[in-house]
Amino acid sequence: MRFAKRITEYKLAKDLFTRGKDIILSPEAQEMKKYIQHGETTVFEHCVAVAKYSLLIAYFLERTLKIGVDKDSLVKGALLHDYFLYDWHFKDHPNRFHGFTHPSVARNNADRDFELNDVERDIIAKHMFPLTPFLPMYRESFIVSIADKWCALAETFKIDVSSYIIYRINFGIALANGDYSIDYGETAIEV
Ligand SMILES: [Fe+2]
Ligand SMILES: [Fe+2]
Repeated sequence: MRFAKRITEYKLAKDLFTRGKDIILSPEAQEMKKYIQHGETTVFEHCVAVAKYSLLIAYFLERTLKIGVDKDSLVKGALLHDYFLYDWHFKDHPNRFHGFTHPSVARNNADRDFELNDVERDIIAKHMFPLTPFLPMYRESFIVSIADKWCALAETFKIDVSSYIIYRINFGIALANGDYSIDYGETAIEV
C-alpha cells in the first residue's frame, strides 16, 4: 500500500490538469457536459474519471514494474475517448448500435476538433475492446480500456470513486475562466 499512499488524489488532479489542460479548457470538450454517460455522471465527468484511473495505472506500471507510459497521450486519449457528442439514451440518437460504433464516432470527432497522434487515435478507437474486436496497438490503449470499464461499473452502481478529481478539475476550469468566487479552501491547481 506504500504506492497508494504516495500518489495522493490532489497530485493526480494536478497532473491530470497539467497534461490535459488544452482539452479540458476547450469549449469543444466542455460540450461533453451536456450529455449523460452512466447514472447521473456526465460524459465529461466520466472522461475525467477514466483519465484519473488511467494515470493511476500508469504510475503503478512505471514505478513498480518499470514499464514506461506516454502519459501525455494517455491523458489526452482518455479525456477524448467518449467524445461522441450525442445523448445515447435518447431513442432517436444517430447511432443505433452505440456500444459498437461510438468509438469510431468519437475518434472522427476528436480528429476534426483536436490534433491527435497515433497513440491518442488508437486509444479512442479501441477503448471498447474486447466488445469491439479491434486489438489495441499500444499499452496506453489497453490502460484506458481497463480504466473505462472500472469507471463504467462504478458509475452504474453509484460507487463514488471520482468526485474529488471532478471537483478539482472544475475548480481548475473556474480559475482559468477568472472565476475566483468560490473558496475551495485548499491550494489551487495552477492554471
Ligand atoms: Fe465508450
Ligand atoms: Fe467510456
